[in-house]
Amino acid sequence: MLTLTQLLTERLNEAIQKIQSSKIPEGYSASVTAAADTRFGDYQSNAAMALAKGLGTAPRELAANIIELLEIEDICKEPEIAGPGFINFRINENEIESRINEIRKCSRLGVENTTDPEKILIDFSSPNIAKPMHIGHIRSTIIGDCLVRVGRFLGHEVIADNHIGDWGTPIGQVIYGWKNHLNEEDFSKDPIRELLRLYQMVKEQFDSDEKVNKACLEETVRLQSGNEESLALWNRFKEITMAGSQKIYDRLGIVFDITLGESFYDSKLGPLVDELLSNKIAQESDGAVCVFSNNELEPKNDPLVVKRDGEWMPVPCIVRKKDGGFNYATTDIATIDHRVNEIEADTILYVVDDRQSLHFRQLFEVARQRKINANLKHISFGKILGDDKKPFKTREGSVPDLGSVLQEAVDRARKVVDEKSHNLSEEEKDNVAEKIGIGAVKYAELSQARVSDYVFSWDKMLSLQGNTAPYMINAYVRTRSIFRKLGDDSPEITDKLSISEDAERTISMKLCQYGEIVPEILSDHRPNILATYLYELAQSFHSFYEQCPVLSAEGITRNTRLALCQTTSAVLKHGLGLLGIFPPEKM
Ligand code: ARG
Repeated sequence: MLTLTQLLTERLNEAIQKIQSSKIPEGYSASVTAAADTRFGDYQSNAAMALAKGLGTAPRELAANIIELLEIEDICKEPEIAGPGFINFRINENEIESRINEIRKCSRLGVENTTDPEKILIDFSSPNIAKPMHIGHIRSTIIGDCLVRVGRFLGHEVIADNHIGDWGTPIGQVIYGWKNHLNEEDFSKDPIRELLRLYQMVKEQFDSDEKVNKACLEETVRLQSGNEESLALWNRFKEITMAGSQKIYDRLGIVFDITLGESFYDSKLGPLVDELLSNKIAQESDGAVCVFSNNELEPKNDPLVVKRDGEWMPVPCIVRKKDGGFNYATTDIATIDHRVNEIEADTILYVVDDRQSLHFRQLFEVARQRKINANLKHISFGKILGDDKKPFKTREGSVPDLGSVLQEAVDRARKVVDEKSHNLSEEEKDNVAEKIGIGAVKYAELSQARVSDYVFSWDKMLSLQGNTAPYMINAYVRTRSIFRKLGDDSPEITDKLSISEDAERTISMKLCQYGEIVPEILSDHRPNILATYLYELAQSFHSFYEQCPVLSAEGITRNTRLALCQTTSAVLKHGLGLLGIFPPEKM
């Protein structure tokens, strides 16, 4: 089924072709968007404004001309011209009715598969060994998981890859800490916390104390050259960390296809650097091996140069350090080779915070110089802030770890459930609190514009009002309660619909647009497009529910309203599922 946007675009293009002017640019396609203000129509096109200048006519005149040529009576009422030359469309009720029937009977709810399926590898979450996952990892984990779900639903082959930071200097630091400062008692109580303490303590000394610095680097070399004792410790740290992360993934319902650490690529780094040298992509400089700009890009777009005091200076990507060690960047270059050659990914998405944006720009430039044939994209995001607009911290001033944030969310949700839901058993209350708490943390993340910082507010995310998970879940639960009251989960609903009230029409149009919204999420990797849509759908449902009695209605009115409740219920559940949120049936 073509979406309404596609159908209107098709018809508009046919009309424009009939103008038969050589002044219409070749391959021109009209743009149609859902109207922001539905008082004047459901959809809108600026085609006449876009073409008028080239054709030497006034936009409004051209709009009238296009409308005359349009064959569209089967889908909408006579289009109207608005403002400087917009063409507004109002869809016919019978078109909406037949779409609602199609959507409610189709498991894809009107969302078509992509016509261009790809193999997409998504690199997300990617915590580091010997450190608990902290709140900073939350954005990557939740956004990445949502993109995996949406990509798969649209028919792409998606590989969820957890690129663990398990190699390099930080591990040497923890090994040094373990050998010199371990508190056995604390370790047996809370191993990850103790490893983190060791890491933080040693890292501080590492920067200021030359002896410690040297000893840590020695530990790193010992590990990387395969010393058995070091490897055993490293494995132990890795198991402890991953067991901690796994608990969080289980709670969040997140599954990875691949969990390869940076260590996996270690043996490939030496040969890679040799290859870069022999291809003349890298060169020796000051004892290190670096990739410099090859001047193919304009300096302002080239991440391997920077402007200082009016002059462009090199900022090379260092792939082998003076001491012979390799970098984060070297590993990432080798990882691209593996993903492109072995896994055969067409697209690789890196869901990583924006502090790493220079790293990824340089990485992609090295890939371009190497003529790597894949589409690489950094899906970056900003920080999570506290109420004070500074990076979110615990009351004690430390970076909160994700496990305790999730627990606090569920505990707080439980209080809300205790206040509001009296008819549930204790077990049901636990279940609902878990779903609301985890859903609230996810929704707070996914309803934000990805690129900006956002304020983490318990009160806001757990409120039953506004663009929040509890509000969305409440709308879904309301749809379910109608069918519970009816005593029939899937009552017989016929195709005879009649949409007459405004509130019925509004919610119907929203339902018809689900198929337009979902593909858009992947075009710019913005889950908040879906969250905003679901919020508007939930709002339309609340007004519909207040204005249009369902169970007390009769005949075709009742049939129509039941159909709308059923379809809304299905779309809300499905859309929340794409966000990784699984609402309870009652609360
Ligand atoms: N482990 C890194 C960190 O916590 C993120 C890794 C992101 N992925 C990558 N391929 N570089 O900052």
